[in-house]
Amino acid sequence: MLQLSGIKKNFGNIQVLHGVDLDVRAGEVHALLGENGAGKSTLMKILCGILKPDAGEIRIDGRPCHFASYRQAIEQGVGVVFQEFSLVPYLNAVDNMFLAREQRNGLGLLKRTAMRERAAAILGQLGVEIALEVPVRQLSVAQQQFVEIAKALALNARLLVLDEPTATLTPAEVEHLFKVMRSLREQGVAIIFISHHLEEIFEICDRITVLRDGDRIGCCEVAEVDYARLVEMMVGRRLENCFPPKPALPGDADPVIEVEELQLARGGPVSRFELRAGEILGFAGLVGSGRTETVLAMLGAHPAACCKLRMNGVPMRFANPAEALQAGIGLLPESRKEQGLITGFSILHNVSLNNYGKYLLGRLFVDRAREDEDTRLAMQRVRVKAQGPHTRVDTLSGGNQQKVVIARWINHAMKVLIFDEPTRGIDVGAKADIYQLMRQFAAQGHSIIMISSELPEVVGMSDRVCVFRAGGIVATVEGAAVTSEDIMTHATTGRTRHAA
Ligand SMILES: Nc1ncnc2c1ncn2[C@@H]1O[C@H](COP(=O)(O)OP(=O)(O)OP(=O)(O)O)[C@@H](O)[C@H]1O
Ligand SMILES: [Mg+2]
Repeated sequence: MLQLSGIKKNFGNIQVLHGVDLDVRAGEVHALLGENGAGKSTLMKILCGILKPDAGEIRIDGRPCHFASYRQAIEQGVGVVFQEFSLVPYLNAVDNMFLAREQRNGLGLLKRTAMRERAAAILGQLGVEIALEVPVRQLSVAQQQFVEIAKALALNARLLVLDEPTATLTPAEVEHLFKVMRSLREQGVAIIFISHHLEEIFEICDRITVLRDGDRIGCCEVAEVDYARLVEMMVGRRLENCFPPKPALPGDADPVIEVEELQLARGGPVSRFELRAGEILGFAGLVGSGRTETVLAMLGAHPAACCKLRMNGVPMRFANPAEALQAGIGLLPESRKEQGLITGFSILHNVSLNNYGKYLLGRLFVDRAREDEDTRLAMQRVRVKAQGPHTRVDTLSGGNQQKVVIARWINHAMKVLIFDEPTRGIDVGAKADIYQLMRQFAAQGHSIIMISSELPEVVGMSDRVCVFRAGGIVATVEGAAVTSEDIMTHATTGRTRHAA
């Protein structure tokens, strides 16, 4: 149904696609796989008319197509769910779904009821309940993701592109999405699916095309390959165990932060925990179990009913995150685009952000050479793939943007780092790099709190794990008890049990 052949694309003097082929059949789910920056999103933007290819051809049903805009692609039945959200935050779900394609009656008036019903029907088909009246910015990230998907479905697309749709979804929501994808597949819709979760690829896809550095490495049936082979195709080398070994921690390591009492809302559960020097403390739990809020409350960025903590034995209360930063606590937020980066700035300015004092020469001058050098070093350490420190962050691939946030804290000499979903949207090779960096940081005697919804990551990385449920910590596990089963049991049944 779809044939892309010899697609080439340059940005300035960098070629990011070197003549890529891709063919997709009606009624199949086709995975597009590759490391961060391999060119997946760029290829999809070319497919839907947002970017112009420098060479190559697009055919749909054998006929050559030249899309001058996304609108023309939509008319040919191509729908896309973009990696970075494209919703208008101030409009509600219905208005977003029908933006620029509003249904009107003979008088040119909006058919509000009809659009609302159609929107409700599509969201119903997705099996999600979403308030249709409120601006989408008031919805959770997962709900916004579903509105995004519903928007593409409203196009009645014959070819649907999903660029990392599962990155922000819970396992149950992913299952929902897969159900919808299966039913679309039965109706003969062709789906291109991008994800860094290989187990999802094995579950839902029929064929896989792998890109590496803008080249097509191969295309195969899912049944023909295994995990190790796929990874090898993606990164060009075999990956050993991606989690670094956990060193034995002395039982008497000093507590750096002791949270004596933290209550998010009056009457809610009370959390207690301590973070020790040199450890990685995992925060596990279902989405919405209060992990992020608890961390934000600690840093003074979320109103809590009660927050009593000590840092290095001294009682503390942070009025705002700037004070926490002063005390040496850095946060990598879960939504890099809104909270972690200024995307219109260069990598350099994002890395030295809130660390300018370090580069002042006297009161008037900035040591640009040193700033430049530090940024280059930090970029190398986390392997940001970009032309140089002056590249704008919004031209980087999603995964590379995340690495820039990490580069900032690496450069900022923090004592405590809080990682909220550290590897969301990060490819397997880069994940291993990030885990390594986290371990090195801890080995220097620093501490990490890692919030993660990926159980293998929690189990593979944490020395101890606090399990959250309904707004507070219900259990703390360590040693041999750090297993997926144990954590899930606590997260879902909430039996209170504190390990010694
Ligand atoms: N507008 C742009 N200007 C300059 N370079 C760009 C632009 N858009 C993308 N690039 C570069 O093209 C390359 C491919 O990026 P792309 O977003 O397609 O990667 P990706 O495979 O989708 O990665 P990810 O898995 O991280 O989303 C990257 O090196 C990126 O920096
Ligand atoms: Mg991408």
